[in-house]
Amino acid sequence: MPTDPVLVVHGGAWAIPDDMVDGHLHGVRNAIAAGWRVLESGGAALDAVEESVVIMEDDEIFDAGRGSFLNRDGKVQLDALIMDGATLRAGGVGCVERLRNPVRAARKILSESSHVYFVGAGAEQFAVEHGSELCRNEDLVIAREVERLREYQQKAAESPAKDGNDLFAPTISHDTVGAVALDRTGNIAAATSTGGTLSKAPGRLGDSSLIGCGCYADNLSAAVSTTGWGEPIMKLVLAKWTADRVAAGNLPEWAAQEAMNYLQQRLHGHGGIIVLNAQGQFGISHNTPRMAWAFKTIKKEEAGVERSAP
Ligand code: GLY
Repeated sequence: MPTDPVLVVHGGAWAIPDDMVDGHLHGVRNAIAAGWRVLESGGAALDAVEESVVIMEDDEIFDAGRGSFLNRDGKVQLDALIMDGATLRAGGVGCVERLRNPVRAARKILSESSHVYFVGAGAEQFAVEHGSELCRNEDLVIAREVERLREYQQKAAESPAKDGNDLFAPTISHDTVGAVALDRTGNIAAATSTGGTLSKAPGRLGDSSLIGCGCYADNLSAAVSTTGWGEPIMKLVLAKWTADRVAAGNLPEWAAQEAMNYLQQRLHGHGGIIVLNAQGQFGISHNTPRMAWAFKTIKKEEAGVERSAP
């Protein structure tokens, strides 16, 4: 029996400044529109999450694609993962520097490779061999981020952190994007894409492109995408942890909130999460001051930058 489609997206969890709220809302609404076009015409959840994430990678407001936070050397280095809940097939890229849309390369890996994960130059080579064009890294760098990095590095030099954790303060970081979808055939999928954390060391990989950390999808449990400070999320394998709670019979709304509690209590981590099961139930939660989110069902469409606990 056909199911009613559902689409949920996020555009990063942090202290989104007031003057960036409208831009974030505009971005997540556009992402919903792109993914929904796929779902309403009977397309696959996998295609919907890809299209939603592409829109956010192309939107400079987010930390994904062009406009991402810069690494310590002033370069954009991107990570992305996409996963199909029907088959558990997945594709991921890490530390790519010359792809405008890493999620497209991840999708090609999912669909056309027996491997799951490519990094760096090998990922870019795979993408070219499968029809993507390379850009220059400079094409992904924008003036706002050059200035943000300069300011940050100047402050860090003036008062170095004792434990380095101020690098990940929610006021300056984490605009990773993601999407989860349920299609008319009852399949779910998830995708996550990021430029990672501000002033990260070259070669540093975050949670976003790691299966079960920043992204996960299984029709038998849930589709999950996380955003936030990647290191604690990785240590907790948080997306899979959350999906397992759904598989155990809990509602996605409860599991999303519980994941944020666990992240906070176990490792003082911060971030946000979207969770969707194959019955169309979903949860959105964050423990940062704000998170850009949006969802659409056949009955309702909403977007916001704050989501209170259920
Ligand atoms: N969650 C994004 C990152 O830490 O890379």
